[in-house]
Amino acid sequence: MKKILFATSECVPFIKTGGLADVAGSLPKYFNKEEYDVRVVMPKYLCIRESFRSQMRYVTHFYTDFCWRNQYVGVLEMEYEGIHFYFIDSEFYFGGPWPYGNMFEDIEKFCFFSKAVLSILPQIHFKPDIIHCHDWQTGLIPVYLNDSFQADPFFWGIKTIFTIHNLKFQGTWNVETMKNFTGLSDYYFTSDKLEAYGNGNMLKGGLVYADRITTVSKSYAEEIKMPFYGEGLDGLLRARSSDLSGIVNGIDFETYNPATDEELPQNYDISTAIEGKAVNKAKLQEELGLDVNPDAFMIGIVSRLTDQKGLDLVECVLDQICADDVQLVVLGTGESRYQDLFRYYAEKFPGRVSANIFYSEALSHRIYAGCDAFLMPSLFEPCGLSQLMSLRYGTLPIVRETGGLRDTVVPYNEVDGTGTGFSFANYNAHEMLSIINYAKKTWRESRYAWNSMIQRAMAQDFSWDASARKYEVLYNELIAEEALREELAREIQEGERLKKEQEENEKRIQALKARKNKSAAPVQEEEEEA
Ligand code: ADP
Ligand code: GLC
Repeated sequence: MKKILFATSECVPFIKTGGLADVAGSLPKYFNKEEYDVRVVMPKYLCIRESFRSQMRYVTHFYTDFCWRNQYVGVLEMEYEGIHFYFIDSEFYFGGPWPYGNMFEDIEKFCFFSKAVLSILPQIHFKPDIIHCHDWQTGLIPVYLNDSFQADPFFWGIKTIFTIHNLKFQGTWNVETMKNFTGLSDYYFTSDKLEAYGNGNMLKGGLVYADRITTVSKSYAEEIKMPFYGEGLDGLLRARSSDLSGIVNGIDFETYNPATDEELPQNYDISTAIEGKAVNKAKLQEELGLDVNPDAFMIGIVSRLTDQKGLDLVECVLDQICADDVQLVVLGTGESRYQDLFRYYAEKFPGRVSANIFYSEALSHRIYAGCDAFLMPSLFEPCGLSQLMSLRYGTLPIVRETGGLRDTVVPYNEVDGTGTGFSFANYNAHEMLSIINYAKKTWRESRYAWNSMIQRAMAQDFSWDASARKYEVLYNELIAEEALREELAREIQEGERLKKEQEENEKRIQALKARKNKSAAPVQEEEEEA
């Protein structure tokens, strides 16, 4: 059995702030269970729902030196949908109302988490072949593994993979503070290791020390080797390009299934999509206080409200987007600039714009099902899951051609009747607007073509099946590499042992010869005398 440990700062169904949680919670279920024992370790946040926390079983606890303090580290465990989860307990670090707070505190928190992930392994008697780390919060795991943990043979041979979900967040602070938090020596804070632009950088640690690096789409894997997308680390990523690959994300096809989704007023599948979506649209309009109007072109946005998501383009042409019979439904939280923007437009266009500035899993499903189109004009997008969810529910994505959006949405081609959505290339508000208008025109004037596109979108397979096989190949490669290294080490050791044995034998022969010569000498003398 190959043993894999996912280390993550968030994971569904326990806690989610973005797509990382979806990936960490769904991907482990899709490995071949006969061959891979995939477990997950994450913090036990106090803000995890009580109904989950009460199901966690105590495993052990111990104290560890961290940041000049003797820190409590508790370990709890739980099985969920066939996956074994470990939770690291520290009320000191994970007691807040939200998984992340201010960056300064988060850095200390995730230095602790990274160290704790390694420290618990001997205690829980689980030695993974591979630790699969996700994003900056786990960047120090490969570093610590290379450092003090090598003193214990338990950790020898453990390999690491680091997956970049978002290169923008790096976990950086000045070198002195980072030295204090990490407990790592000066040796690590040079520009070929954890130092970047004068700061200590946790993500960089992961990128330098992990055995392999992956990211969540092929295009993003190429883009991050360029300065525009590289967030200052493109040089390092170019240097490590032979260890870097892109594996596109999938989504949980059971959770996101319009045929069985309990959040929807009306379930539907590919054969009943047109009628089913019409019912969901009307109900959503009703629920959000919009005009109940089947002839309004309904555009959805479900997103973190940040610059990454291209919302400044939306802001620039929002009046034009909201023209005519368009309805815009927004669900998201984030920068107050964008929260206020959408709230303002909801007031400006009552009955046509709905701003839902909060987090709701249930409403997100109804938006994926009820809208006609889904807008995601990201500045950069490592993969993006929302467009995959929209495709699954037959809501056609309008995206910018970047990262995973480019890899997963095929632009409509009215000549040969192909495509699953709409896309534009340049980060330009008017280019976006013209493609939105083109989508609207297609919806109004070529309904047959639109409906065929819904069928094609829903027929796309973005389940985890294909991508999980790619991770398996990567795991196998690394495990085989380690086995080869161990075999080589054994052969070298055996060679050295044989060499030593030969040297000993040689010495013994010489000694015997010398003794023989010595005992032969007097006989010769006697013979001479005679
Ligand atoms: P990112 O991880 O960059 O935020 P993704 O598209 O990969 O973007 O994943 C976003 C995930 O978070 C999707 O599952 C989306 O439905 C969900 N999501 C984002 N904002 C909200 C919200 N306000 N309410 C419910 N779900 C949300
Ligand atoms: C990040 C990215 C998003 C990706 C998600 C899961 O949050 O912004 O594009 O889909 O991680 O990998």
